[in-house]
Amino acid sequence: MTYFINFDIISLMKIVFTTTNYLEVSQLRFKTILNKSAVFLLVLTFMMVTASAQPVQAGEERTVVVTSFTILEDIVNQIAGDMVDSRVLAPAGAEVHEWELIPENFIDLEEADLFFYNGFNLEVWLGQALNTLDEEAEYMALGEEVDAETIPIQLGDYEGDPDPHLWMDPLIYIEYVKAVNEKLGEIDPDNALVYEINTARYISKIWKLHADLHQDLAQIPANSRVLVTSEAAFVYFADRYEFEHHGIWGSNAEEEGTPDQIARAVDIVQDYNPGGIFYESTISDRHVRSVAGDTNSEVYGPLYVDSTAEPGEPADNYIGMMEVNRDLILEALKN
Ligand SMILES: [Fe+2]
Repeated sequence: MTYFINFDIISLMKIVFTTTNYLEVSQLRFKTILNKSAVFLLVLTFMMVTASAQPVQAGEERTVVVTSFTILEDIVNQIAGDMVDSRVLAPAGAEVHEWELIPENFIDLEEADLFFYNGFNLEVWLGQALNTLDEEAEYMALGEEVDAETIPIQLGDYEGDPDPHLWMDPLIYIEYVKAVNEKLGEIDPDNALVYEINTARYISKIWKLHADLHQDLAQIPANSRVLVTSEAAFVYFADRYEFEHHGIWGSNAEEEGTPDQIARAVDIVQDYNPGGIFYESTISDRHVRSVAGDTNSEVYGPLYVDSTAEPGEPADNYIGMMEVNRDLILEALKN
């Protein structure tokens, strides 16, 4: 028997605190007048709902929610926990752009009630996945759904297309979280209030992450704020936290590490002379090391972009991976 929420007074106080905190931060940003007593009423209502809700029985049919990669899987898990049957296609450590669907993926897609993917051609294999879904299944491209201004891919075969890595800006990631919450509530209205509360709690943590990143990364002097990586996947992160950003190539969906790409990257590193250059967790570090060898640069990594880390590692969730990235960037560029 599975209990997603085991309520007690401490949990209640935590939710009141974090939810209120989130609303306070939101107040600053959106200048909205909020009534804290409404939060208490919401929580009390939530308690009444959960008190009367039946716990999920082992073997009971739950909503099957399939995500294309681990960043989106984490959102579903944060909002719904084991109240839904959450499955991911490209697992931790896998390269999402050019993932090849495996037999288990086809089963998951056939059984899916809801499929979340990023869109903007992150999943170049998307057509195959959508064709596998049941006619009744719903799906949503979260990156395309959110109201955020896209930044073009900087170079390479896909230059000029919208860059798909919008989740790397925590404030855009919050919009992903809201969209997942709304869709889960539509599909599973009996648990919508629980999703709502978990979403508010999670968003408060993302606001704190953003505040921490903003404050901590401010330690890096203006002339050192140059982020050179394998894939130019940090455009939204760089835009939010004021870094100059360059990749050896534009997208992991294209050929990686060609002589032209390496030569161009060597020129950039020689021009900017950054404190270090970075590789990412889902691809080989050999191309970055090649550039480093030609420029006498330090290599740092892995940074996490297209996947969280394996379960149990500090970067096994979105907040953790952004903190690991921050620490690595600070280590390389602070001085
Ligand atoms: Fe990527």
